Amino acid sequence: MTDRAILPVPPAGPALVEAVAALLLEAFPQAYAPLSRAREEVEDCLAEGRIARAAMEGDRVVGFVGARPRYGTTGWELHPLVVGSCDRRKGIGSALVAAIEDDARARGGVTMYLGTDDETGRTSLSGCDLYDRTWDRIRRIRNPGGHPFAFYQAVGYAIVGVIPDANGLGKPDILMAKRLLTTDVPQ
Ligand SMILES: CC(C)(COP(=O)(O)OP(=O)(O)OC[C@H]1O[C@@H](n2cnc3c(N)ncnc32)[C@H](O)[C@@H]1OP(=O)(O)O)[C@@H](O)C(=O)NCCC(=O)NCCS
Repeated sequence: MTDRAILPVPPAGPALVEAVAALLLEAFPQAYAPLSRAREEVEDCLAEGRIARAAMEGDRVVGFVGARPRYGTTGWELHPLVVGSCDRRKGIGSALVAAIEDDARARGGVTMYLGTDDETGRTSLSGCDLYDRTWDRIRRIRNPGGHPFAFYQAVGYAIVGVIPDANGLGKPDILMAKRLLTTDVPQ
């Protein structure tokens, strides 16, 4: 078995940027084509103040995660997250998320949050009016299309809301978050 490592980025040479850009393009062709656009996204993830990790198997880049501070240093947005299609369901996504959560926590992070779009009818939250019975629909969410919200639930994230029609009518963004501290909220 090849050694796996979840490495902090930077350092990021051109080969790593290129490999991550290729992963993004493969997973999200609508968002990141052409490759130059995907490359720009990777460079953006490496800007000052942001944090990122790459999953390596030997010298092969198999996954990538980034996060950026959005509310001082307490609230961090996780974006993007990708694992190569041949390397999924081997625990790499979970390892990347755990590592970036540690990095955010070390910088004062209290909450990690993200938006995960459903533009292609993969969940029961698409193709309906989410202004109507919003929380009822969220509580009853189903996942016939293997949408990644189930992955995020598996690693401790809760659905905390939706942005109805974020990507066009009936194409919502699903908002999820996780507390990074074990301390309870004072009552
Ligand atoms: C989402 C993604 C990062 C998950 O990475 P991964 O390495 O396959 O995830 P893991 O192997 O750590 O999965 C951990 C658990 O999450 C759940 N899970 C993972 N993918 C899932 C899916 N597609 N549907 C339902 N549950 C899923 C499972 O419970 C899994 O445990 P199991 O394999 O023991 O059943 C990967 O599928 C991916 O890159 N997808 C394309 C890009 C994407 O959608 N990114 C997120 C956009 S917001």
